[in-house]
Amino acid sequence: MSTQQAPLALEAEGICKKFGTLVANDEVSLKVGKGQIHALLGENGAGKSTLVNILFGLYKADQGEVRISGEKVEMNSPHDAINNKIGMVHQHFQLVPVLSVTENIVLGDEPTSKGGALDFEKAAVEVSELGKRYGLEVDPRAIVEDLPIGYQQRVEILRSLYRQADVLILDEPTAVLTPQETDHLLDVLRGLAAEGVSIIFITHKLREVLAIADQVTVMRQGKVVGSIDPKETDEEGLAEMMVGRSVVLRVAKSEATPGDTILSIKDLNVIDDRSQPALRNFSLDVQKGEIFGIAGVEGNGQRELVEAITGLRSVVSGSILMNGKEMSDSTAREISEEGISHIPENREKHGLVGPHSVADNLVLNRYFHSPFASRGIRQTTAINDEASHLVEKFDVRTASIHNPARTLSGGNKQKVIAARELSHDSELLLAAQPTRGIDVGSIEFIHQQLVNQRDSGVAVLLVSAELDEILSLSDRIGVIYQGQLVAIAPTEEFTRTQIGRLMTSGND
Ligand SMILES: Nc1ncnc2c1ncn2[C@@H]1O[C@H](COP(=O)(O)OP(=O)(O)O)[C@@H](O)[C@H]1O
Ligand SMILES: [Mg+2]
Repeated sequence: MSTQQAPLALEAEGICKKFGTLVANDEVSLKVGKGQIHALLGENGAGKSTLVNILFGLYKADQGEVRISGEKVEMNSPHDAINNKIGMVHQHFQLVPVLSVTENIVLGDEPTSKGGALDFEKAAVEVSELGKRYGLEVDPRAIVEDLPIGYQQRVEILRSLYRQADVLILDEPTAVLTPQETDHLLDVLRGLAAEGVSIIFITHKLREVLAIADQVTVMRQGKVVGSIDPKETDEEGLAEMMVGRSVVLRVAKSEATPGDTILSIKDLNVIDDRSQPALRNFSLDVQKGEIFGIAGVEGNGQRELVEAITGLRSVVSGSILMNGKEMSDSTAREISEEGISHIPENREKHGLVGPHSVADNLVLNRYFHSPFASRGIRQTTAINDEASHLVEKFDVRTASIHNPARTLSGGNKQKVIAARELSHDSELLLAAQPTRGIDVGSIEFIHQQLVNQRDSGVAVLLVSAELDEILSLSDRIGVIYQGQLVAIAPTEEFTRTQIGRLMTSGND
């Protein structure tokens, strides 16, 4: 019997791309079969986006070639990619906010029809039919900026399908989605693949790779480290390929031994920046020696909660007790002195002073105390010693502790903040999105630090939009929905789906 194989839908071979001296892609090869869901996995900075930007004609490769159905193609612009039936859903959507769904879908690189004018009504009907067919329903006449993020993403996908993409590239599509939306997207992708569309799916979430991919190519530091069928491995195996060493995915953690209540919030009311209620009669207790996780879709009051506790947002009514002491009228400095550490969500705004050195940032909340100051005079040697020690302990990658903090990468900025916040005595640690945008190796490290804090008797309040992070770290979980905790229970009493439902509807 002949074993002649069908040509691959897309093949990249020997792709090299440098930015200055940085090698973003080093001899990268990728083979994507027809109707295959091919995951591209790798840590931040591994070179995934660079590769797909080359495949979509946004960047020009320094070397290497791309073949579509066995034919070598020149990919000099997205126009070439679209002509070759490649579609891409970008990490940051490329939609025109003030235009309608249909306009966004048909406009752009689409060649204008002979008569010039496009028939929008006809197009709207087509868009609506496409949506129904693939589970991507969206009102074709809606204005894009009025749509929630999940629906804007549908528009991006529909735009590629409208142009009859045979290969659909999605760059971290689930990063902006809720667990429910993610599950739905994975279903949609399965449906597309079943119709013969080839899919390149970038993610750093191992669970998603295992759930959906027929094949996974793992990149590390610009190189492909392997390409395998995910069925032949597991989360640990993938993580090891990704990071280059074995990684502890399940945080090693013993039973919590909670003690006295450290933080007690009662009937708290807080308004957001637009004067709308953000927290509504919100109540919560966090005990010494436990990690209390707040699960929720972003924008349900989490940010305002953290700001209220840390004194960055004023309280309308209700109380915030630290060790029984009322803090709702205290300043941020007073609260920090009371023994609260804070790993903030917005590192640029609240976490670091960008122009200041890494060393100064590492002692930012202690520089006025001994040994970093003596009779009001800065003790440079003590500051530098402490900074060098923390840089080593937390594996902060910086050429020098004297470099400005703003020159660090996102993961390293987060390590500086964590190092600072976890290295002074505190009774309450507030960790808001503590691992957002950082690599798996650093996530493992920060998670372990949070557990260590707990074990040394700190009350930890964890706020995270990553459900997996909440589930693996928390001893108790509260689900926040529209400014209220709609459920509180020990972690083992929740299922993942149950939390997902609570997050999106307030009910299970
Ligand atoms: N336009 C660019 N200019 C300079 N450096 C870039 C550019 N795009 C990416 N890089 C660098 O190339 C490397 C790979 O980045 P990227 O492909 O975005 O990785 P990933 O998508 O896997 O996170 C990173 O070190 C990044 O800083
Ligand atoms: Mg990327």
